[in-house]
Amino acid sequence: MQTKSAAPAAATRPKLSSQPWLHQRGVEIQAFGTVRQFPVALSADTRLYSCQRLNQLLADSQILVALYKKHHWLMRGATFYQLHLLLDKHAGEQLVLIDAIAERVQTLGGVAVGDPRHVAEITRVPRAPDGCEEVPAMLSRLLEAHELILTDAHEAAARTAEQGDDGTNDLIVSQVIRTGELQAWFLAEHLVDTPLVRA
Ligand SMILES: [Fe+2]
Repeated sequence: MQTKSAAPAAATRPKLSSQPWLHQRGVEIQAFGTVRQFPVALSADTRLYSCQRLNQLLADSQILVALYKKHHWLMRGATFYQLHLLLDKHAGEQLVLIDAIAERVQTLGGVAVGDPRHVAEITRVPRAPDGCEEVPAMLSRLLEAHELILTDAHEAAARTAEQGDDGTNDLIVSQVIRTGELQAWFLAEHLVDTPLVRA
């Protein structure tokens, strides 16, 4: 009579452990600046080009987020509270944006720039002083970063559309440009020298 097979002897049983495999290292499995083959009806050249343009926008936008947080922290003066909150709101919106840009790079088979030190090598946004600038200078600095990104975004949107990458064009136009323009408006209004009480 067939009996239920007994559990394997301890000696033959694979060694089980709940110990995590720590301190692992591996080879780089995709180089930055390359694309994998993805079936998204876009040529490798088109996807490679879009990834390069998107990574530039991604690096500059990550620096913009950092500048917004820096200035959110360092804000001062009579309009401290309003600007402190506004700059944090803009930083949060840019954070959503950079995630969308990064995921577009991945969608196209590329590698999104992530490490802040790599970002610093790529960005064209000028570095702010380590200390604190006057409030109007902080706002001007943010506006200039916005305009640099917007200039690049308009050009990248046109070129990616020419190459048939409608998804990247749509992301740049509907998210990068629209968000950037709106935030620039909110900032610029704080640099209008207008009387507060008496005309
Ligand atoms: Fe905060």
